[in-house]
Amino acid sequence: MAGIDPGDVLAWGVPRMRDLPWRDTRDPWTILVAEVMLQQTQVDRVIPKWNAFLDAYPTPAACAAASLGDVLRLWQGLGYPRRARNLHATASVVVVEHDGRLPDELHALMALPGIGPYTARAVLAFAFERDVAVVDTNIARILARTAGERLTPRRAQDAADSLVPEGDGWTWNQVVMDLGALVCRPQPKCEQCPISTGCAWHRSGCPAPDPAVGSAGVSTKQARFDGSDRQRRGVVLAALGGGARPVADFDGQIVAGLLADGLVTVDGVSVSLPD
Ligand code: ADE
Repeated sequence: MAGIDPGDVLAWGVPRMRDLPWRDTRDPWTILVAEVMLQQTQVDRVIPKWNAFLDAYPTPAACAAASLGDVLRLWQGLGYPRRARNLHATASVVVVEHDGRLPDELHALMALPGIGPYTARAVLAFAFERDVAVVDTNIARILARTAGERLTPRRAQDAADSLVPEGDGWTWNQVVMDLGALVCRPQPKCEQCPISTGCAWHRSGCPAPDPAVGSAGVSTKQARFDGSDRQRRGVVLAALGGGARPVADFDGQIVAGLLADGLVTVDGVSVSLPD
């Protein structure tokens, strides 16, 4: 991508790299759990949950041996519980098909439940130290702004791929994430940015619309939680954490949605977390 000098980004980022606990490990399962949690949840809220999850399930085998209900109980408070269901399913596939270890190949990772291009590359970069480029929402924002235009998924991934310094994929991806999380934020702090002089959007005076908005990989604002079905689903799952309850205690549509997602089981007139 014209405009980004990887050396400038590394020089800025390496000395101030955030000290995050999943950066101290190369264990693929541990990293997968972090990446899945981080997809929709802020770093501060992830850290205690990540620790608790890995204390309970330090390996795919330990997770696969647990009931989905127990995994969902641990997930309580993180939201987006389909992530927990997918992680549990992935653990089972890894035990059955991969001898209990996460594969180190893009397509094999992407064949696992809930693992898409982002998560697969994050595992390759952060656990196996491969020179692949991850494109999360922070990095996608940087790519669109430096290009000065909205990018398709293909162009964003190609642009990211072209930047990874050989042999430095692990550091590169962590540092670019930090740049997006700390500087190239939705409200950018261009005065602090090590690559603003090469950024097409900055050079043209940051005109509206921001090219990051609607560009591939850049997440939109999460919908309001209060009063949402997401909140109502969370209330049901939290209640079921204490044991089975009569279906009639809850809104039928919410229970039906949870059932369709495999997050509860219904037995006659009672609903519970899955075994
Ligand atoms: N968000 C997703 N992955 C991350 C990581 N490895 N470090 C910081 N934030 C992240």
